[in-house]
Amino acid sequence: MSESKIALVTGSSSGIGLGIARRLAAHGYGIMLHGLVSAEEGRALAESIAAEFGIRTSFSPADLRDSAAIAGLVQQCVDDLGSVDVLVNNAGIQYTESLHDFPEQKWNDIIAINLSSVFFAMKAAIPHMRNSGWGRVINIASVHGLVASAQKSAYCAAKHGVVGLTKVAAMENANDGVTVNAICPGWVETDLVKPQIEAIADAKGIGYEAARAELVGAKQPMATMTQTEMLGALAVFLCSDEASTMTGTALPVDGAWTAQ
Ligand SMILES: NC(=O)c1ccc[n+]([C@@H]2O[C@H](COP(=O)([O-])OP(=O)(O)OC[C@H]3O[C@@H](n4cnc5c(N)ncnc54)[C@H](O)[C@@H]3O)[C@@H](O)[C@H]2O)c1
Repeated sequence: MSESKIALVTGSSSGIGLGIARRLAAHGYGIMLHGLVSAEEGRALAESIAAEFGIRTSFSPADLRDSAAIAGLVQQCVDDLGSVDVLVNNAGIQYTESLHDFPEQKWNDIIAINLSSVFFAMKAAIPHMRNSGWGRVINIASVHGLVASAQKSAYCAAKHGVVGLTKVAAMENANDGVTVNAICPGWVETDLVKPQIEAIADAKGIGYEAARAELVGAKQPMATMTQTEMLGALAVFLCSDEASTMTGTALPVDGAWTAQ
């Protein structure tokens, strides 16, 4: 799209965030990369994406459990790259345990990273978008923002919260050139789901491939994992002028998981 537009993608050091960052970079967006990796690894990633796509990049390792660090991340994006036109709130973690045994620290971390960071990042970034009269916010929720699964109390609470927050932010900015949408993926093959596949493999004494098929098929009528690049393509569309009236949505990409 436009070479002058800048996208901040949280949690873009791996998985879905990296897939979205790469697809936006391929369409000419400058990219603020972010993730909990070493400064050296982050710098190397930023340099390789800048060279591959001929765009400007920067990198931050801000810990999203800290609201001041989130405001600093948005400010760094503006300072290093000139603006924040697109905000993709993607960073997230997972932990599975029954509610009565769920560790308090895991609850607090999931709510902070998967939900509160979305609020603080929008609070910091949307004023810049309103000032310029154009902005796109894409919140990576989950099917677990729409339906529940056992063992995922904190994750489901956070992701349902992200969907609600998306709707409020969309309404508040509806006539200011800023759209706010959520993407709700089903299974996407990334580091985040590996422990869940390994747990099935261990419990049933089966191989990784068989465990993956069992995990995906248990929830999705289409027993195929979504690839990160597919979510990148949807993000590019949401940033386009053709999507300028799409706002406040929660879009499942889930092999018919939530169609049931
Ligand atoms: N993989 C799936 O099947 C799936 C499905 C639906 C939704 N999602 C959501 O997609 C998003 C990305 O997940 P993924 O699967 O790519 O996982 P991932 O583990 O590959 O990536 C997570 C990213 O978040 C960052 N992060 C983690 N904790 C952080 C913290 N405290 N501060 C800053 N950054 C932190 C990591 O550094 C990494 O860049 C998450 O919000 C996740 O809930 C994933």
